[in-house]
Amino acid sequence: MPRDMSYQNTRIAETAELLKKRATELQNKQEILRAVELKALFDELKTLPPEQRGAFGQEVNQLRGELQVLVNQSREAEEKLPAIDTTAPFDINTPADQHPQLLSSAQGSQHPLMTELSTVLDIFYRMGFTAVESREIDDDYHMFGSLNFPEGHPARDDYDTFMTTQTSKDGQPFIAPAHTSTMQNRVMKKYKSDLENGKPIAAVIPGRVFRNEDLDARHEHTFYQLEGVYVGKDVHAGNLIATLKTFLQAYYDKELEVKTQPFYFPFTEPSFEFAISCPFCDKKGCHICSQSGWIELLGCGMIHPNVLKEAGIDPTKYTGFAWGMGIERLVMMKYGVEDVRHFESAKLDFLRQFS
Ligand code: DAH
Repeated sequence: MPRDMSYQNTRIAETAELLKKRATELQNKQEILRAVELKALFDELKTLPPEQRGAFGQEVNQLRGELQVLVNQSREAEEKLPAIDTTAPFDINTPADQHPQLLSSAQGSQHPLMTELSTVLDIFYRMGFTAVESREIDDDYHMFGSLNFPEGHPARDDYDTFMTTQTSKDGQPFIAPAHTSTMQNRVMKKYKSDLENGKPIAAVIPGRVFRNEDLDARHEHTFYQLEGVYVGKDVHAGNLIATLKTFLQAYYDKELEVKTQPFYFPFTEPSFEFAISCPFCDKKGCHICSQSGWIELLGCGMIHPNVLKEAGIDPTKYTGFAWGMGIERLVMMKYGVEDVRHFESAKLDFLRQFS
């Protein structure tokens, strides 16, 4: 490895090179100051005989200082970025003194759905799932064909969404996906080599989805879903239930009872509707659960053999489960939000409750 000439000590020079390179790849540059390699050098300092400590210590401090400068520089560069207010579009040719007044990013806050989504993803990371983002424009094959909805199948009507007038090469309009299940085929193909190496496929897929809906307190035309896909050897419905229960108990931070009811989705067999005991009243009955004590939260099931086959996975060797849940509904049940339309209403009174 070529070494950084500003350091006499080879190990420090090599570490300097390594950490400076790593810093360029880190999104949060601050993390470089906590690198184990840097800590190891400081630990080593304590073990050195006193006559070597001076020179070594000076160089380790120099390295730490150099990394701190990198962190400061990236922070300054970030602060210089202009605030972007996507709700105030204007013609790019507008003279600068006539631009709409933009709020600085310091006066804004993250949307509650995005904050909650990072909490959700964090829980799944800890459970061993990786995250893959879904797309906002997709095609007929991923929306239906890959998910075991044959042409003309009546279940297609349950996923009525928006289409473009523009068509793909095979003459089909593009589709604003009605669910994140459109990503199942891609994710399984992407990770199927893991199966051959004895590892399961474990992915969660957050994304924005679209439906042609009559809007009311529980229905929006645009909302977020989180899909989950898990495939491996000897995977069964008990694993599905345990995974979802573990996640939900972590998210709501309490013990929950769960139950499944048979349902129908073309892409799973068997398919279930998954319900939890109401996190507000613990099954006593309240207005959140319409006095039933239970909240139906999501759809799930064991991945249909045809869906596995379509992704090139042998269903006689591997089995898997999948689920799809609405993020808004999950969050509404956490905070007792009574109307899904609040999320996109831009009502500051609503949003500020979460910041
Ligand atoms: N895609 C379904 C919907 O939006 C939800 C769903 C059900 C996803 C079962 C799944 C699943 O992955 O296995 O209605």
